[in-house]
Amino acid sequence: MASITVEQYAVGVVGLGLIRHWYVDGAANEDRINEMREILDQSEEFPWNLELNPQERDLIEGYSEWAKIYDGPNPLIETEEQVVQPLLRRLVKPQARVLDAACGTGRHAQFLDSLECICVGVDQSIEMLDVAKNKLPGGRFELGTLERLPFEDNELDLAVVSLALCHLSDPTAAVTELARVVRPDGTVVVTDPHPSSGIIGGQGFYGSITEGQPMRWVRNHYHSASTWLRAFRAAQFSVEDCIEAPLSDEQIAGLPASMLYPEAALAALSGIPSLWVWELRVQK
Ligand SMILES: C[S@@+](CC[C@H](N)C(=O)[O-])C[C@H]1O[C@@H](n2cnc3c(N)ncnc32)[C@H](O)[C@@H]1O
Repeated sequence: MASITVEQYAVGVVGLGLIRHWYVDGAANEDRINEMREILDQSEEFPWNLELNPQERDLIEGYSEWAKIYDGPNPLIETEEQVVQPLLRRLVKPQARVLDAACGTGRHAQFLDSLECICVGVDQSIEMLDVAKNKLPGGRFELGTLERLPFEDNELDLAVVSLALCHLSDPTAAVTELARVVRPDGTVVVTDPHPSSGIIGGQGFYGSITEGQPMRWVRNHYHSASTWLRAFRAAQFSVEDCIEAPLSDEQIAGLPASMLYPEAALAALSGIPSLWVWELRVQK
């Protein structure tokens, strides 16, 4: 990945805020230009001169590092839970057999456990699973991959796969595997970063430029609507619902992009879908 300075990043965000709304409010356009001037005038000073040069990690190494800090504040996850938790609550009954696929640190497994489901979490990262096991002692968590889930055909009532299919260049094989393990008329819930959220170069960044763990990243593939629909058709799902959820203004305020010029970041990002949430019914 090429490096970028804080100055370049900030000018980009402010510029996006300008170009999205230039026709609405001339005074706001002036504000954006003044912010850019201010940034450029200070380009030799901290923090503008800080260079971001995060190294890419493959998924196994990346998540072994990210596991330690994964459960920190994350506006995307907040938005996701606001949509997914009511959906799961509507879809499951106590004693339902459910899978948190690519469960990571077990967010959804923990929630499904609180709904009295019989839940299994599967992930390919030992370190993410260790965090999940500590959070939910007695929970069932297994090492495994999305492409080859450790279940018989039709063994489950519901599966949820959150923020993980973005790590696959093509989601079709994993989506088909989810359809295999869920019974006919069962449900699969998919959440994934929305391509619009890639507008500010969103990859799976973790760590920090200022303290503790250095900044690193794992690769995201942003799947378009046509890619999803082809994958769902191949797996014989019917699409029951699709929600494209933007971050709220408060959640945008929590992003690194908002730290220096919050109004410009809001103008840049407000209303842009950050997440797909698909509700799929198994039709085989
Ligand atoms: C961004 S985390 C999401 C974790 C959790 N689902 C959540 O929403 O908090 C992505 C997770 O997907 C897992 N993952 C990525 N590719 C996978 C694959 N092919 N099979 C199993 N797990 C995978 C990673 O190990 C990581 O724990």
